[in-house]
Amino acid sequence: MTDSPVQSRELAASSESPRVGVLLIGMGAIATTLVAGVEAIRRGIARPFGSLTQLEMVPSAEDPNQQVPLAEFLGLGSLDGLVFGGWDINPGTGYDLAKHSGVLEPTLLEAVRPYLETIEPMPGIYDPQYLRRTEGRRVKPASSKYEQAQAAREDIRAFKAKHKVDQIVVMWCGSTEIFLTPGPVHQTIPAFEAGMKANDAAIAPSMLYAWAALQEKCSFVNATPSLTVDLPALVQLAETNGCPISGKDLKTGQTLLKTILAPGIKQRMLGMEGWFSMNILGNGDGAVLDDPAAFKTKEESKLSVLSQILEPERYPELYGDLSHQVKINYYKPRGDNKESWDNIDLTGWLGYPMQIKVNFLCRDSILAAPLLLDLALLSAAAQRAGLKGVQDWLAFYFKSPQVRQGQPEHDLSRQYNTLQAMFRELHETLVAQPAAVR
Ligand SMILES: NC(=O)c1ccc[n+]([C@@H]2O[C@H](COP(=O)([O-])OP(=O)(O)OC[C@H]3O[C@@H](n4cnc5c(N)ncnc54)[C@H](O)[C@@H]3O)[C@@H](O)[C@H]2O)c1
Repeated sequence: MTDSPVQSRELAASSESPRVGVLLIGMGAIATTLVAGVEAIRRGIARPFGSLTQLEMVPSAEDPNQQVPLAEFLGLGSLDGLVFGGWDINPGTGYDLAKHSGVLEPTLLEAVRPYLETIEPMPGIYDPQYLRRTEGRRVKPASSKYEQAQAAREDIRAFKAKHKVDQIVVMWCGSTEIFLTPGPVHQTIPAFEAGMKANDAAIAPSMLYAWAALQEKCSFVNATPSLTVDLPALVQLAETNGCPISGKDLKTGQTLLKTILAPGIKQRMLGMEGWFSMNILGNGDGAVLDDPAAFKTKEESKLSVLSQILEPERYPELYGDLSHQVKINYYKPRGDNKESWDNIDLTGWLGYPMQIKVNFLCRDSILAAPLLLDLALLSAAAQRAGLKGVQDWLAFYFKSPQVRQGQPEHDLSRQYNTLQAMFRELHETLVAQPAAVR
């Protein structure tokens, strides 16, 4: 591991099943599908398909011929150790918000209703400039961005005290904010804090939550394409305060398939003239992405993957003139059940053209929830192991991975290998030699 041990290492050594608070900012479709799903799994009425931490079997460190569950290999503890909470700008309990999201069928939802009703999201930080298609109806009454962020810090402290958790992972699952690139106010911690006090328009609500989380020494995950914690100032704060951070934008449906298919096409040295991707979806995410400014944020995140995988500068003859387009259309009847179509124009032997058509009938939040679960557990484990700052090894989970420097890796199998290598290191630190971290 590259980082030295930090303050929270005692945790790993002292407790087999750490109590981890998971604070979700934006309790819409993906967040409530995570919470409802974990509760259903805890009750033994559903299975955690799609989650590596829950289902992957890895060779035992003691005997490579034996397989052990990943959660055991990494000492992640059971799901009973997770305590959920969060914020939302819309009213209702966790149950109301899950029902409104319309992802889960009534029988499952009613079975976990008692737990979801105990979750009363805290008032959110709302700025209509960043979210133009949704109105905030449960918002913090603070007068400056700095005060709003301080109020979020108070929320985190109160949650920690009430639920007696050992550590907290904060996850940004809110609606996509309008497109933004880092500016002067995002470069250093003093500039950022002065900007909050001066109500600088370039500081988005998600950045305020991120600052609050890092001040409270929480891990932070950005599940969305918004800039959020991908700022030099907040990366520095994460390093200083010993917080693992990761993002951006969960790699769920179409982009997941793209990063599986494209490496194979390239390995066969087949050419590619174009890749046209389109989607229809009718959930809250789709409604927000109907705003061109929010869609631009998503588009940037979705477009970045192909050029890194195909390396057109190395293979100009094969990929130098690639046309890559992504469209998302809001189409209410589909709700969370997104449908995507991909058309890939390939070039084979002697330049003969071919086409591949992919039609994925997926469920957005059903794909996203297991990724959130893994990211919560792995971020908490990373912090116990003393890792801090940007966690490049979590790129496997993201469309547009945040990295320390250079270009991110997008090829899913390479990302998977990096992840597995880190699992072995985490095992060494957290499980094999826990005394060393005392
Ligand atoms: N569904 C997927 O597969 C998927 C995949 C990758 C990324 N994402 C991203 O995850 C995010 C959430 O997606 P969703 O489908 O759950 O959307 P959603 O509309 O169902 O939920 C978003 C929630 O965030 C709340 N919110 C918005 N701004 C907030 C703020 N400032 N503070 C607190 N709460 C706020 C909204 O009230 C809403 O309840 C989006 O940015 C989306 O792009 C989703």
